[in-house]
Amino acid sequence: MDNRNLYSVTGLFDTPDEIVQAVEVVQKEGYTKYDVNTPYPVHGLDIKMKLPPSKLGYFALVLGLTGAIGALFFMWWTMSKDYPVVIGGKPFFAFPAFIPVTFEVTVLLASVGTVLTMLFLYFRFPNLSHPLHDTDYMKSVSLDKFGISIEAEDSLFDVVRVKNLFEKLGAKKISEINFDEEFDKKPKIFEPKFIVFLIFTAIVISGASYFTLNKLLYMDPFNWMMEQSRVMPQSHSKIFKDGFGMRNPVPGTVARGSMPYLFAGQPDTAGEKLVNPYFPDERTLSLGKKKFNTYCSPCHGSFAKGDARLNGQFPNPPSLHSDKVRNWHDGRIFAVITEGQNIMPSYSQQLTPDERWAVVLYVRALQRAVNAKEDDLK
Ligand code: HEC
Repeated sequence: MDNRNLYSVTGLFDTPDEIVQAVEVVQKEGYTKYDVNTPYPVHGLDIKMKLPPSKLGYFALVLGLTGAIGALFFMWWTMSKDYPVVIGGKPFFAFPAFIPVTFEVTVLLASVGTVLTMLFLYFRFPNLSHPLHDTDYMKSVSLDKFGISIEAEDSLFDVVRVKNLFEKLGAKKISEINFDEEFDKKPKIFEPKFIVFLIFTAIVISGASYFTLNKLLYMDPFNWMMEQSRVMPQSHSKIFKDGFGMRNPVPGTVARGSMPYLFAGQPDTAGEKLVNPYFPDERTLSLGKKKFNTYCSPCHGSFAKGDARLNGQFPNPPSLHSDKVRNWHDGRIFAVITEGQNIMPSYSQQLTPDERWAVVLYVRALQRAVNAKEDDLK
């Protein structure tokens, strides 16, 4: 009854010699389930305890081999099967080039894997508790005492016998270690409190690292082109004498696809030199009609007779059926549309040169309609 809660009986000694002697005796008595705790490794103890060599090395070997073979296989598969790429003229399976990676993966898997094996197999992770934890015994052997602990599980175990043995050996302090209540219960790691703490820590740490790396320490990679000082459109600049940030094109600059008007202020020359490049076909005339009705008819009237809808609000223009205008060359009318005439404004912004020529042809058609000849009926 009493023994059910008992984990072990421990004895504390002052010197390494005493503990070595104690182990010798305990071993001779035939105990097998016992352990020794010392503040530093005591040479020869393992031999006295007849400890078999650790099996951890085998795990490390297997894990290391797994790493080596896995890395080599993966490189062979990617580099010579799945996506072969010639690199520096080497063969696809370039063994010497694969050594560094193989080495790294071997060491990585062996070391990390061994630690994990130790944690899970030997320490029964995620179980974190052990009856010896947090006892005065453990505190003493972590400092300057040498302790031995014979477990209750041992077939020869008997509390009184063990205590007598320790006394005989000269132990300074003998105590019983009990299982704490939590032992063998659900590991503390799975308690909601701890999990919430873990999540909270993860969020805080990742938030802090994100802020530090992306905001606090972030440096733009090579962005001198983007960050250079420059003049914004419509803004002032001291570089130029006139103080304007935007520059005018060099005089005489011709924009692609637009011919400059060469007869500014010379409508008569324009009349002589400019030739209408279009014929009065259906497409051109209907374009001309559309543009004339939109832009000219408000003043000149739908039939160019000078009977404007704007009558009274704007000086009436003359009829375009006068002999004067009928005898003008196409280029002369083109000049009026392009530059305007006296109070008639320019229509060069509203109409492209092509559209102006089309309007001219439509004006010609109107003139012909008003002054029809006998022949036209035939
Ligand atoms: C805002 C009203 C207005 C509009 C719109 C207008 N004109 Fe005129 N146009 C006039 C006036 C006013 C005159 C007379 C100018 C003057 O005193 O020399 C005139 C003169 C003319 C003349 C010369 C007539 C002459 O006997 O000297 C032509 C040709 C002409 N316009 C064609 C057009 C064409 C084509 C359009 C359409 C693209 C147009 N106009 C749009 C008001 C207008």
